[in-house]
Amino acid sequence: MLQERITLLEDARIILGVTGSIAAYKAVDLASKLTQAGAQVDVIMTAAAQRFVTPLSFEAVTGRPVFTDMWQTASPDLPTHIAHIGLGEGADLLVIAPATAQTVARLAAGLADDLLAVTALAARCPLLVAPAMDGGMYAHPATRANLDTLRNRGAIVIEPEAGHLASGHMGTGRLPETPTLLGHIRRAMGRHGILAGRRVVVTAGGTREPLDPVRYLSNHSSGKQGYALAQAALDAGAETVLISTVSALPAPIGAVFVPVNTAEEMLEAVQAHCASADILIMAAAVADFRPARVAPHKIKKAASPKRESTLELLRNPDILMAVKEGRERTGWPRVVVGFAAETESLLENARAKLEEKGLDLIIANDITSPQAGFGADTNRVVILDRESEQQRPPLASKARVSEIILERAAAALRG
Ligand code: PMT
Repeated sequence: MLQERITLLEDARIILGVTGSIAAYKAVDLASKLTQAGAQVDVIMTAAAQRFVTPLSFEAVTGRPVFTDMWQTASPDLPTHIAHIGLGEGADLLVIAPATAQTVARLAAGLADDLLAVTALAARCPLLVAPAMDGGMYAHPATRANLDTLRNRGAIVIEPEAGHLASGHMGTGRLPETPTLLGHIRRAMGRHGILAGRRVVVTAGGTREPLDPVRYLSNHSSGKQGYALAQAALDAGAETVLISTVSALPAPIGAVFVPVNTAEEMLEAVQAHCASADILIMAAAVADFRPARVAPHKIKKAASPKRESTLELLRNPDILMAVKEGRERTGWPRVVVGFAAETESLLENARAKLEEKGLDLIIANDITSPQAGFGADTNRVVILDRESEQQRPPLASKARVSEIILERAAAALRG
């Protein structure tokens, strides 16, 4: 699947070190997705890595020469012609994926016995290591100690996953898939972003109000906008909590994930996490009503012989109103962003909600607009603030809309 551009990775200079693990083939996909996301990827392969994958595979997906030899001169666009200096000096991140036990040991010992090891010594950028090896090797005290040494020097170690290993055994040692690696790379790249040191809470998805053990009342929210907001918060360096009713989307790497179903559960989770939140963004589609009674067993047709049947509903708590009351007492969250899902009188309804709920910003989206609202990959919003300012970004991906919203929320936080 084509990887969309990622603002955070646009023109980022990433060195990808590839070592002699069977998982080296996965690094080709990682190099490809990083390049598609907008990064400039310089690959360094160890001799052992070339027994699994050829340099040509990486050159094909990165469009750049691959480094395999300590004595190679660097490509002309690098700061100096000495490869390991030129590569290390200009890099934003050094990622070694997969990292064999041998390479982990060489890094821990500070060896300089090949181009990758020398570059790791010369580089001043963060080091991100993704070990991949047989389970017994990963569990060995020597490997654990070497990884601890790297962590103590500030390296980020991406834990391998459990599963089927090349040896045929089951165990922990599998290189994670590209989306997971990409998530860790984003987290490392975003560490000094505009929301570094800040805490952002995002809600996503439509609440599910149970009717009986089989059925519930809900809405069409897919969670895409909320998940994109959580990812944008992570990319901006924030400590991010995602409170979600959705399980169909992979939780963004680095987010604290809090699963909920009903509006009442969401209220409880929001209040628990907002006590110290700088920013709350309520992108979730919260039901205003729930069935007055939840049947203990599946409701049978025979129970209501008539054609019509009535369903008694109860009002759900208004989460943003509860947050407003809490904020009046404690001052937290510092900034509250609401959404308005409207089908008519978009700006009037949105402004009424901004004022009634005491919001700093409200994101008005006309859910009847094509390519916007529920389930779409794009959204068309109008951002209103308390000073009646309106910002009308063009129709864009929910990722881009999220970046714009986070920029506005960060500005409100500074203001
Ligand atoms: O999830 P997607 O498929 O990507 O779709 C995105 C979206 C359309 C769901 C999203 O862009 C959106 O509009 N979310 C808000 C939906 C909603 O509930 O809007 P509303 O106008 O009904 O509620 C106004 C605000 O009050 C919202 O921030 C809502 O989270 C909040 N609310 C609503 C009801 C309630 N009981 N408590 C609340 O806090």
